[in-house]
Amino acid sequence: MPPTVSFVNLKGGVGKTAVSVNFAAFCGLQELKTLLIDTDPQTNATFSCITVEKWKDHSTKKGTIANIMGMRRHTSPEGGEANVSEIIIRNVFRNVDLVPSHLDLFTIDLDLAATTARETKLKRSLGDILTQYKIVVCDCPPNLTIPTQNALAMSTHFAVPVSPDFLSAIGIGILLSRVKDFCKDLQHDLQHIGIILSRVGRPARHRSEISDDLRARFGELVITPEIKERAAVSEAASQNRSIYEMGDREAKKEFEDCSIEILKRMGEL
Ligand SMILES: Nc1ncnc2c1ncn2[C@@H]1O[C@H](COP(=O)(O)OP(=O)(O)OP(=O)(O)O)[C@@H](O)[C@H]1O
Ligand SMILES: [Mg+2]
Repeated sequence: MPPTVSFVNLKGGVGKTAVSVNFAAFCGLQELKTLLIDTDPQTNATFSCITVEKWKDHSTKKGTIANIMGMRRHTSPEGGEANVSEIIIRNVFRNVDLVPSHLDLFTIDLDLAATTARETKLKRSLGDILTQYKIVVCDCPPNLTIPTQNALAMSTHFAVPVSPDFLSAIGIGILLSRVKDFCKDLQHDLQHIGIILSRVGRPARHRSEISDDLRARFGELVITPEIKERAAVSEAASQNRSIYEMGDREAKKEFEDCSIEILKRMGEL
């Protein structure tokens, strides 16, 4: 099975999706065949790669992650099992394929409430298809419910994007202890590869205090290349492009440096 990284944080809006999408795009540019899995019902990673129209057409005709996670309303148009390989959208970026998400994933915890082994449903459904990829990237929602649990259960590594503001930094300890408990329960090996300072705004005392505090608490786990708040990042998403196709050299360099560090920590460089 390929090395798989999940980007997680209980806090919303800290840059999980921007990092996931642009890390996947970076891997693709390095000629690593990459699978990007959008496990978030908000469907943001999906809409960062393809248009809403393309998603509508694909989700109706072929299906989304909601099908392969076994939601009862999600069978193929003929009413049978959805075809897993058809759900994957090929080459959303160079060498990057996408498992798109669906808003209906919001209720998956209820839909799968009575099923067994629901944390490993995604991994089991993708099965041998995963062997086609050199690396797998999971974008997670801002919680630890079934979609995130499925991402973690198929991951070898996870990373935590954080914005250096008081409310974003506050929940990291809780997140890490919950992930640890989850892995213990599932007897699953999962390596924490680091905290990514993301969406870093203009220099300000409170921001540097929070960054310093994170470095004091987590030491080397805090990844040094920071990702600053730059308009090109959200522009790229709105144009279904990666940051590497945009004109902002500094933004591009930050995502490259951060991606290289992630690959190194995953043992892939
Ligand atoms: N480095 C950045 N500079 C500027 N804007 C950014 C940056 N990173 C992310 N954004 C923008 O900020 C918003 C939130 O980012 P993103 O969606 O990546 O966060 P998230 O942690 O995935 O949020 P959620 O928890 O809701 O999934 C988006 O509009 C995104 O385009
Ligand atoms: Mg997101």
